[in-house]
Amino acid sequence: MDTFNPFSLVGKTVLVTGASSGIGRGIAVACSRMGATVVINGRNRQRLQDTFVSLAEGRHQMAVTDLNDQTAVRDMVETLPLLQGIVHCAGIGQRVLCKQLTEADLDMVMDTNFKAPVMLQTEILRQKKLVKAASVVFISSIAAESPTIGNSMYCSSKGALTAYANCLAVELAPRLIRVNCIMPAMVWTDLIFKGGITEEDLREDEKKYPLKRYGTPEDIANLAIYLLSDASSWMTGSNVKISGGVYKLG
Ligand SMILES: NC(=O)c1ccc[n+]([C@@H]2O[C@H](COP(=O)([O-])OP(=O)(O)OC[C@H]3O[C@@H](n4cnc5c(N)ncnc54)[C@H](OP(=O)(O)O)[C@@H]3O)[C@@H](O)[C@H]2O)c1
Repeated sequence: MDTFNPFSLVGKTVLVTGASSGIGRGIAVACSRMGATVVINGRNRQRLQDTFVSLAEGRHQMAVTDLNDQTAVRDMVETLPLLQGIVHCAGIGQRVLCKQLTEADLDMVMDTNFKAPVMLQTEILRQKKLVKAASVVFISSIAAESPTIGNSMYCSSKGALTAYANCLAVELAPRLIRVNCIMPAMVWTDLIFKGGITEEDLREDEKKYPLKRYGTPEDIANLAIYLLSDASSWMTGSNVKISGGVYKLG
């Protein structure tokens, strides 16, 4: 008898951006272990290759592309197979005080965290690569709802991304395509070591979490699996916090 598994991703092809590191890598590996074929994206070929060799057996693909380069994005989308799932995970952190931020800082954060996933999603729709009843997941952040010092651009970029995703959910619902956001609190990856924050600072902050720890990429990957699977087929337009119990950052 087959074991009941509503979370299986067998038969689904899933694009994961930002899969060369941290949360994206965790999601790509977990999806492959749940039976998905994955297309992994990142900029750094060596790190993406490291993810590739960690995937469970399958006919997976690598797409080394800078998502801020719109010509390269168009070319990448042409090479994609039909997709049953997308996880928009690529992103950057940046900490600058409001009085010190520059237009270049703002462009870099908004281009990477907001414009790039929006334009990739647009190109995928334009080239008809997303099948009926597919699932789209955006890795937003609890930062969108947590005002903290020095984090204005990052928080704004994630707030904009969440608002976009919620509109996309309404637009794609007639084709039964679902769109949801994951809003993690702090997760142990390279991204959180920004703006002079030390591991010691982070270990102190971690103690304030009700569950007494920051998240791991695997914690986030398990939620992504649920949202990509048919188990969540009545969920769209949701922004799901995953936070070890903290209500806000800070
Ligand atoms: N860690 C946290 O506490 C946390 C909490 C909430 C939300 N998030 C979100 O989770 C996502 C993943 O972050 P992470 O913590 O896993 O950080 P990470 O380890 O620094 O990984 C970031 C990933 O994004 C990719 N990336 C960045 N710019 C890109 C571009 N222009 N084109 C293509 N890929 C690009 C990087 O690729 P290369 O290395 O190949 O350049 C890397 O794979 C981000 O959207 C972040 O905002 C993180």
